Amino acid sequence: MQIGFATPSLAGTGALVIGAYEGSGPTAAAAEVDKSTGGALKRAQAVTRFAGKRGQIVELLAPEGLKASRVLLVGLGKIADFDHHAAERVGANVVAKFLTNGEKDVVIAFDVPKGSRLKPDAFAAHLAMGAKLRSYTFNHYRTKKRDEYEATLAKVTIGTTDVAGAKRRWAPFEAMAEGTFLARDLVNEPPNVLSPLEFANRAKQLSKLGVKVEVLNEAAMKKLGMGALLGVGQGSERESQVVVMQWNGGRGKKDAPVAFVGKGVCFDSGGLSLKPGASMMGMKGDMGGAAAVVGAMHALAARKARVNAVGVIGLVENMPDGNAQRPDDVVKSLSGQTIEVLNTDAEGRLVLADAMWYTQTRFKPKFMIDLATLTGAISVALGNENAGLFSNDDRLAGYIYDAGQQECEPVWRLPLSPAYDKVLKSKIADMKNISGGTQAGSIVAAQFLQRFVVEKTPWAHLDIAGVAWQDGEQKPLIPSWGAGWGVRLLNRLVMDHYEK
Ligand code: BES
Ligand code: MN
Ligand code: ZN
Repeated sequence: MQIGFATPSLAGTGALVIGAYEGSGPTAAAAEVDKSTGGALKRAQAVTRFAGKRGQIVELLAPEGLKASRVLLVGLGKIADFDHHAAERVGANVVAKFLTNGEKDVVIAFDVPKGSRLKPDAFAAHLAMGAKLRSYTFNHYRTKKRDEYEATLAKVTIGTTDVAGAKRRWAPFEAMAEGTFLARDLVNEPPNVLSPLEFANRAKQLSKLGVKVEVLNEAAMKKLGMGALLGVGQGSERESQVVVMQWNGGRGKKDAPVAFVGKGVCFDSGGLSLKPGASMMGMKGDMGGAAAVVGAMHALAARKARVNAVGVIGLVENMPDGNAQRPDDVVKSLSGQTIEVLNTDAEGRLVLADAMWYTQTRFKPKFMIDLATLTGAISVALGNENAGLFSNDDRLAGYIYDAGQQECEPVWRLPLSPAYDKVLKSKIADMKNISGGTQAGSIVAAQFLQRFVVEKTPWAHLDIAGVAWQDGEQKPLIPSWGAGWGVRLLNRLVMDHYEK
């Protein structure tokens, strides 16, 4: 679906969407529509008791006096409450209404009134972002009822008094939306199709945007000593892969990169510590962290971000065949530390341990953020509304918090401390991979990861197990199971603090 910006016009033949604010008089567009339709709009407002409240709508079909196929009047709520989140929500809801109902063209012509919290360019760009994010579909595997699912909507035009400004603001947003779509595709893809190798091949496509992509196969990993990651993949027929992506848009080679590391468990059966059937469903999405890293790198490259960035993803399949890792095995990680694997279902931390160590020792990054669908416990604590944030650096944590707020990908910080670390003590190795207890599972996992943070590297861990996919009610900006969570946050973080 295409996005365009133009000076507001009521002349189009597609659907015309206009707005009204609660407690304010009719907007210019509404007054004009009312005049052209001989007062039909006002009458329709009266019979529906339309007051401009958020979520209210009035629809005129095939209106007399206008070329538009229909007019949709949308309640925008109070002017003072209408912020960029509201703009994105409304943009998304408009697209939700028209995406598959046969309409090809939609023009949104909202006013930006006095007292608005948004300038016209931001108002338009955020409307466009909501519209774009909601237009995502994933229908590759449907052979029936295509008309029910296929998008018919081809273009949304946002009317704005600042076309040039809106376009300028939109350019990076579009890159972020593209990156989000890529991450959603990867999460939605079924695990028989998306093996570690296939995932790596898709990541290689980033080279078209100027990203340098390297792939380490099992032989290369063995040579390096990535025993923790390799142990997870050894019960699968499919070969594990590590993908290293570099975007060099910064001030030259000496400019230390920002680093993102993703958990890419293409399917998590639990291994020999097999998950029960119901918990195994959805475990194709256990690569949501890796998907976010690939999506973020795509967005950085697509918008030619002035930053050096590396993305490293550990791709494995956690399966229970005859060669599978056993509960009780001891593995040696790339860092040299040994790990007693008491539960093969606590595999994400093993993958990250080696991917994180590799990233820090090779690239010496400014900071490192890992993203992982790491623990079921994080959604017990935070539900599907916030990702869990853990960090050894208050400044980085603050930046991440702000970026999440800005981009509708909120995070909430949880503690790290040595007091939580004690439970990882092993009877025979440097540590075990679970506490063995039931308390503070997400924190214990983060403590485990922290043991693979090189001293003084500012580091943050985002546990995205609750937000990487949506199982229940769809959120306005997330029309599919895969959310693409994290792409926007990482890009906003870079844009606001590391590109100056
Ligand atoms: N991939 C899971 C975490 C997960 C659970 C993600 C539910 C999304 C939804 C992870 O590998 C896992 O199995 N974690 C265990 C850890 C436990 C064995 C210490 C968990 O959360 O139960
Ligand atoms: Mn697991
Ligand atoms: Zn997992």
